[in-house]
Amino acid sequence: KVLILDFGSQYTQLIARRVRELNIYCEIHPFNKIPTEIESFKAVILSGGPSSVRAENAPHPDLSKIRGHMPLLGICYGAQYLSHFSGGLVAPSDSREYGRTNLSYIKVKEPLFNHIDTGSQVWMSHSDTIKDLPTNGLLIASTKDVENAAFIIEGEQTYGIQFHPEVYHSTDGKQLLENFLVHIAKLEQDWTPQSFVEETVEALQAQIGDDKVVLGLSGGVDSSVAAILLHKAIGKNLYCIFVNNGLLRKNEFESVLTQYEGMGLNVKGVDASARFLDALAGVSDPELKRKAIGRVFIEVFDDEAHQIEDVKWLAQGTIYPDVIESVSATGGPSATIKSHHNVGGLPDFMKLKIVEPLRALFKDEVRRVGASMEMDENILGRHPFPGPGLAIRILGDITAEKVRILQEVDAVFINNLKSWNLYDKVWQAGAILLPVNSVGVMGDERTYEKCVALRAVESTDGMTADWVNLPYEFLQNTSNEIINKVKGVNRVVYDISSKPPATIEWE
Ligand code: XMP
Repeated sequence: KVLILDFGSQYTQLIARRVRELNIYCEIHPFNKIPTEIESFKAVILSGGPSSVRAENAPHPDLSKIRGHMPLLGICYGAQYLSHFSGGLVAPSDSREYGRTNLSYIKVKEPLFNHIDTGSQVWMSHSDTIKDLPTNGLLIASTKDVENAAFIIEGEQTYGIQFHPEVYHSTDGKQLLENFLVHIAKLEQDWTPQSFVEETVEALQAQIGDDKVVLGLSGGVDSSVAAILLHKAIGKNLYCIFVNNGLLRKNEFESVLTQYEGMGLNVKGVDASARFLDALAGVSDPELKRKAIGRVFIEVFDDEAHQIEDVKWLAQGTIYPDVIESVSATGGPSATIKSHHNVGGLPDFMKLKIVEPLRALFKDEVRRVGASMEMDENILGRHPFPGPGLAIRILGDITAEKVRILQEVDAVFINNLKSWNLYDKVWQAGAILLPVNSVGVMGDERTYEKCVALRAVESTDGMTADWVNLPYEFLQNTSNEIINKVKGVNRVVYDISSKPPATIEWE
């Protein structure tokens, strides 16, 4: 496996994804927490980062157990690090070194640049530059503005590159990573969805034995794939609980429950809608809504879990982005924008051991693993849906009637996206019930009714997002259908805000 040491670059996760696209397993660790069992890694990549090596508090890890012992590739800050503290010189650059540029020189027969020709486009993003190479450094590539764009330290398998091979705009970036990992570090490309399933099922069997496991299904991709993996491993000893909080999409509870049963899962559907609605009555602050829902969910789940005799484990669909320890450039914690309740863990009174079969996977890998187990596209291709459900799409307080209206509106929107073949082109979509009434005319009658907003975004991870340019004709038909069919709504608007600054959910 490969170790990626993170210096706080916004691209670190991209490096990991590129490595895994090569079917090679890798892990991200913060630069100041190098794993102790370093021999289990066969190569190391140093990420970029926001710091300058010239700064007093510049990240300065001890690489003595790595450098010279195994192939090492420094990217951007990583390359500057390998220069500055090893006899080279890093200084502020005179010219702008951002964006796309092309390699103007590549040393012949240099294995790192196998199958890459001069002219290849690379992506730069740095304000410092490597003026002098480190001791024993040998120049292996340049661009027009950056002479020391890549170097090797002779006598070691240590490389530094100033550009970012992980980003899409570095056209041969993946080839470069393959050259480094496969040809130089001699890693096997054997980490595939199938091998992941085989290894994980075996590991789960060894970990769990004959114990019973309880898992909360949400209808989403992660918990569903986790359930199928566990089902393969321990069969009927997996007890799934699917809670209807009354804030799901229209008919979702019934249809998803049937699908789960069809997959052979031992699943119990629990309709706790009334309990959730009671807890939410009169609550309009978004964070208080989330807290109320989180609390009731835990109560309901706990009641159900107690009915399973002798259960020892709680399974969760946690994925890799939830567990990567992040490096914060400022040293301070990042601000809590929204308290996503699935992070945060286990209440004290549920003293169960935790099993998280997807802990190592990115979202797209979860989908690939699901597909390799022949799971239904209906589940794997489903848009993300927040745990608190429609509660955070009904602005202000929540009533059964408002939930009903929003479910109807949402169903028209989502069904139309599907019938227009737009559903898979959108990362997430949903409707929002606004706390305003507006005037309309229907026939000769004046109406004073609710307004709904439609939101559809493109994104890869939900961190940033842009609104989707849905065809006018689609919007026109959908708006007509909503206003004609859903009693209580007389106005539809489309949200054309990007994130940042506007979050995907309105609350
Ligand atoms: P925002 O609104 O923060 O949403 O741009 C980013 C992604 O997170 C989802 N989201 C939540 N998911 N509990 C969840 O499980 C929550 O409280 C929550 N709030 C937002 C949102 O649907 C989007 O996919």
